[in-house]
Amino acid sequence: MEDHIRFDRQDLALHLLDQRVLPEQEADIVCRNTDDVIYALQTMVVRGAPAIGVTAAWGCALALNETSGPEWATQLEELLDRLAHARPTAVNLRWAVDRMRKCWWKAMNNGGGDRQALMPIFLDEAAKMQAEDVEACKTLGRFGGECLQDGDCVLTHCNAGALATAGYGTALGVIRGAIEQGKRITVIVDETRPFLQGARLTAWELHKDNIPVTVACDNACALLMSKGLVQRVVVGADRIAANGDAANKIGTFGVALLAKHFNIPFYVAAPLSTIDPTTPDGSGIPIEQRPEREVTHVGNPRLTPEGVPVYNFAFDVTPAELISGIITEKGVLQPPYGLAIWAALNEASAASEAEDTAANGKTGR
Ligand code: MRU
Repeated sequence: MEDHIRFDRQDLALHLLDQRVLPEQEADIVCRNTDDVIYALQTMVVRGAPAIGVTAAWGCALALNETSGPEWATQLEELLDRLAHARPTAVNLRWAVDRMRKCWWKAMNNGGGDRQALMPIFLDEAAKMQAEDVEACKTLGRFGGECLQDGDCVLTHCNAGALATAGYGTALGVIRGAIEQGKRITVIVDETRPFLQGARLTAWELHKDNIPVTVACDNACALLMSKGLVQRVVVGADRIAANGDAANKIGTFGVALLAKHFNIPFYVAAPLSTIDPTTPDGSGIPIEQRPEREVTHVGNPRLTPEGVPVYNFAFDVTPAELISGIITEKGVLQPPYGLAIWAALNEASAASEAEDTAANGKTGR
């Protein structure tokens, strides 16, 4: 699935599959301006770190389209800033907006930074980021597939599938990669209270692709592991700090502790765009707190007594020492993660500089 984030260049409209209503309905919502995109991100029409990044990249083009007059650049700066802060934890959001800013900066330096000239540049960059994300997921899927064995049952938490990326998925990309290598893999997915990304989205994606999947309550994990029903854990990430600590959906840390107890390998799969080298360790990762209503209600019926406060932290941080490997498009990083992360990011930035130099050579800039 690669059409859940679709941009119509003619109409300047971003079509998003509304993940809030899956699996019951497959309906799109259409974003035409920055507010629409921020609404879609905050209400989780679209969610999952890489998908959030790609959506924000298209959002930058919609933001540009909203600007006018001599103050257009100031207006655009403000809109990009609002987009970058729509959700706090997934670093892909800031990463994507920064990449669009870099593009704007380069265009200005090359004499093409006026409003009209910038639109095709923004559209091309967003399309490139979307395509690159699918490629990164497929590549990390191939590397990660090697970490799984024929016959494994893999436990995953939340949704780190095609829906959470531009396509193919990170944790689910690893599962798809192993299956493409001819391995028989089955999956257990935690429900992932309160938004139920596991029960609703991961189960839907895998079932659609005929990958055997069983849904379990979040609190069944210890029992399932104690019964020997889980051979590997693979999860995604929203932000990986420079030392390898990884923020992911609330509940992931508990799964990692259980995996350690039962001696089950625990992998984090994420593209390099999810790594934040500016955050030294997990203590610096901001944890989003979402509306109480997600916990107090399921749909309309209320679950908790009126007046009782709830916690709704959306993410937790798994310490690097509980992670057996970080699966990226540059390979499976091994501890000590600080050095491995530094090397992978350096390699990627050298490749992108070489690409820039080659492109500038072609255009004579
Ligand atoms: O709140 P969400 O649904 O955006 O959280 C998503 C997750 O935690 C995913 O596991 C993570 O983004 C990895 S997505 C490839």
